[in-house]
Amino acid sequence: MILVAGSANLDFVVTAPHIPAPGETVLGHRFTTYPGGKGANQAVACARAAAAPTHMLLALGQDPFAQPLEASLTEAGVQMHIVRSREHATGTAFICVSDDAENAITVAPGANQALSPADLPPLKGFSHLLMQLETPLETVTAYAAQARAAGVRVVLNAAPAQALPAALLSQLDILIVNQGELAQVADCQGSVAACLERLSTVPTVVVTLGSHGCCARTAESLLVQAAFPVTPVDTTGAGDTFCGVLVAALGRGEPLAQALRQASAAGALACTRAGAQSSIPTPAEITELLRHSQENTPERQAAVRAVCGLA
Ligand code: RIB
Repeated sequence: MILVAGSANLDFVVTAPHIPAPGETVLGHRFTTYPGGKGANQAVACARAAAAPTHMLLALGQDPFAQPLEASLTEAGVQMHIVRSREHATGTAFICVSDDAENAITVAPGANQALSPADLPPLKGFSHLLMQLETPLETVTAYAAQARAAGVRVVLNAAPAQALPAALLSQLDILIVNQGELAQVADCQGSVAACLERLSTVPTVVVTLGSHGCCARTAESLLVQAAFPVTPVDTTGAGDTFCGVLVAALGRGEPLAQALRQASAAGALACTRAGAQSSIPTPAEITELLRHSQENTPERQAAVRAVCGLA
């Protein structure tokens, strides 16, 4: 069973020809709201895409924006532990998605800031705790310590990127980052391989590489997984889908290489649809993509290794 502790946001999304530059106004196409937030997206990915028994600890305001977020988590089968904030509004995110599927996101954290170290539910029965960085860093650090002490594996998706205190890094079993986050967390401007060396105290580090694929460094091995080629429409939530499916597969006891492949397939499918939670695929869709793909050829693995600066 997986526990996700993190953010839930209502996403306000405008599609536009391009993402505005500072000071620029762009006439967009369409406006839609979607349930989002990195934590809630990852919980939905665990429960819907990977069919894992999933709980989520989240904080919401006492306002109408909370309702669609609760509805989406409920529909996915996530068991919620809600902290109801009187002071803060439900978290929101303002997203521009361009015609070439790039996005720019600004988050107003609101109630996500209200999650405190005292809010973690009893940890009995959970194999993994999955967190992100849209909730206070002190709270994330306290939860990591409590989970470690209880024998629960601690997984952090360090997004949005920020420097991590040693007290948090030392509690992690698995760190998941994209290339920008890796550079910031490792305080490193070099290749992926060079940055990974600086995080040698974290037992497993997974780096997502966008349309190239991903790699993972453990104590014993370095794995690479090439991406599943898709035509992207909206990449919002694709990284969250990857994280949720990866942790759910590991929670089922699957080997890391297999978990990386499933997570990559799920993330690729999420890029082909609009929105965050609305884009997360079903297990049947993932199985279908896995069955028909031979994406991880030696040539494509070599290309991923080259992107990472690996010999
Ligand atoms: O990772 C995508 C998410 O980032 C969006 O759903 C938005 O809410 C922000 O948290």
